[in-house]
Amino acid sequence: MKRMQLLWLFASMTAGTRPLIRAKNAATNYPGIQFGGDRKLSITVFSDLHFGEPESARGRHDADFKTINTMKSVLNNEQPNLVVLNGDLTSCEWVAPENANSLVDQIVAPLVERNIPFATTWGNHDASKTCSTRLMSEHMWDMKGTNGKKLSFTTSSVPGEYGQVGTSNYLIPVYSSSDASKLEMLLWFFDSKGGRVYQPNGGDMTVANWVDDKVVSWFRQSSNEFRQQYGRVVPSLAFVHIPVHAARAFQKDGGRTGATEPGLDEELIGHQGDVCDNNDNCNYNGADTPFMKALIETEGLMAVFSGHDHGVDWCMKWSKSLPYNDPTKGNGLNLCFNRHSGYGGYTDWKRGARQIVIEQDKLGKNELETWIRLEDGDVSGHVMLNATYGVDHYPKVDKLKSFVSYLEPKPAAVFAERPSSVAKPKPKSKSTTASQTKLKSTMTTRPDVQKPKTMLTKSKSSIKPTAHPKSLDVKKSSNR
Ligand SMILES: *[C@@H]1O[C@H](CO)[C@@H](O)[C@H](O)[C@H]1NC(C)=O
Repeated sequence: MKRMQLLWLFASMTAGTRPLIRAKNAATNYPGIQFGGDRKLSITVFSDLHFGEPESARGRHDADFKTINTMKSVLNNEQPNLVVLNGDLTSCEWVAPENANSLVDQIVAPLVERNIPFATTWGNHDASKTCSTRLMSEHMWDMKGTNGKKLSFTTSSVPGEYGQVGTSNYLIPVYSSSDASKLEMLLWFFDSKGGRVYQPNGGDMTVANWVDDKVVSWFRQSSNEFRQQYGRVVPSLAFVHIPVHAARAFQKDGGRTGATEPGLDEELIGHQGDVCDNNDNCNYNGADTPFMKALIETEGLMAVFSGHDHGVDWCMKWSKSLPYNDPTKGNGLNLCFNRHSGYGGYTDWKRGARQIVIEQDKLGKNELETWIRLEDGDVSGHVMLNATYGVDHYPKVDKLKSFVSYLEPKPAAVFAERPSSVAKPKPKSKSTTASQTKLKSTMTTRPDVQKPKTMLTKSKSSIKPTAHPKSLDVKKSSNR
């Protein structure tokens, strides 16, 4: 039955122009997102929550409990209209298949209690051998708040196998504060995939880490249909877990400074199309070029929000030419990183969430306000993404860490055990399906995926529970 709902959505959302919006409303029973009574739309973005890691994974005590408290604190401070869970909600390579849904229940409990609608993009750690992002999306689909309303917008609007298109490709229409039928804005969600194919009893099959061309076609087509149907550009925002390569190009050659792009800048950005081998040697294959082109060619798209890189949380305006990036020249699109929200996952920078506020009356001006709300209530990196962002000067951001208690030091042998929920990767079977073959042929080396094996056995990336965690802040991409 649940699968039927998703299939029905695929069918109705790809069928033509009008059903695109109606299907969403009919299917969710939710009157769409509306600008609030103050004519503002307030969005809280939790990113890289990394629920489900055992203490032995990184040596931190009570990680998930502390993450829930971070979420509650941020929500109490911000009272958002919508929450975006922007990927790596879980470290699902540690989670047994039968536990995935109850883990999702824990993650969204603070939203359910507060009746806050939410939308998910899945990340490379959510899609594992043991966890299906499709099954988790379906599980979310039926969730209701204490007021009886459906809360989840997380769905799949692009049909195809997980290994090709991923799961969380869809949109949410945003309506006027005063008129629930007047479309004002769109929120786009994309699946940058990565991780593994869900096959609890099968082998380890890695998945490419970029937004697929088929999804890009859906994005372009849907965006054009809105434009035609409404006879005007509909302003929008986009969310995708793994950032596009332009962010890395900007970090490397774009002259980013702590005053013009305030925020943490504590690691080399890992991005879509970054293909890493077992020794963390990464090469960029350019596979996100079609997606980047679509982003900058979509009129009215104001900003794209990503997580994945826990040590980076600034926003950039992509206007100048970026060497070694195709396309080189941006159109002024803002690319923003979120704050690492979870006590799971690498790095211990003070946890928090990205907050976004859009004013309905400023929609045509391409302007939005954003900041990081920290778990202790403080605000960090408060900026206005307007025409002069990138030139305006802001106070530099303090690099503060969360207090984390670590397990007592234990002999290395303890950490060499493989968790029971993670089976040993097997050599790839010779009898691959058509899609497996296709995937392989597009990749020359191993993509950036979760690697519990590496984490547990290689001293370079293994956890030293006592060292206050310099070792967790290493500039690598494979454990993101
Ligand atoms: C953009 O916002 C900053 C900070 O509020 C402000 O100083 C600047 O004048 C604004 N620029 C424009 C073009 O409005």
